[in-house]
Amino acid sequence: MRRKLIAGNWKMNGSLAANAALLAGIKAELAQPACDVVVCAPAPYLAQCKAELTGSPIVWGAQDMSVHEFGAYTGEVSTAMLLDFGCKYVIIGHSERRAYHGESNELVARKTARALSAGLTPIVCVGETLAEREAGQTDAVVGQQINAVLETLDASALAKIVVAYEPVWAIGTGKTATPQLAQEVHAVLRAKLATKNPMAADNVKILYGGSMNPDNAKELLAMPDIDGGLIGGAALKAEDFLTIIQVA
Ligand code: 13P
Repeated sequence: MRRKLIAGNWKMNGSLAANAALLAGIKAELAQPACDVVVCAPAPYLAQCKAELTGSPIVWGAQDMSVHEFGAYTGEVSTAMLLDFGCKYVIIGHSERRAYHGESNELVARKTARALSAGLTPIVCVGETLAEREAGQTDAVVGQQINAVLETLDASALAKIVVAYEPVWAIGTGKTATPQLAQEVHAVLRAKLATKNPMAADNVKILYGGSMNPDNAKELLAMPDIDGGLIGGAALKAEDFLTIIQVA
């Protein structure tokens, strides 16, 4: 049985004051969560996460990282820096990075390999656009996205990744994939993982992301291959995030 994982992706939101209130609100209600909980903060706030969350059941992570180890890469943040600030997870290949920062399947694969070699757990994001879904290309698109990552990994490394299916048309739009529709894609993804390592594929957590909220979380999380959520907007409100954790 896969333990559920609820991950908050704050995106480019927050401030010292707002984060302090949000983290205090979450911590106050989460003595012993029955699922894993992670918050992925903007890089400047990772020190704050470390200060506020050390010793709590909540772990923290980053939203992106450099593919390079160190050196003359202005603006980039390395895996060693994330480790310095206690990160356990890093989101890789979010559709916003793919769309607005030109991240290719190949770069996402290389970043995943770098995160793994540093000992970070990558949350590898895949998902189709509305046009791709309407053209019947969903399975092909997510298949290509995940295969690019699988091609660079050893079979044994598969157990160390988390995958997030985030249909682009459902992100921040209030339009959630129906549980059945999400489940179909999750099953396709698990079958792809199984071609690499059938035993490990059974244990890989596949999260759903895209307008998950307290009202729809229960039905989504009840699906056999949906092992948690990658939550955007609802992760910025302690009450909503806590309700989703409770449901999980
Ligand atoms: P929303 O929950 O705001 O739709 O964002 C989902 C997402 O992109 C999480 O990474």
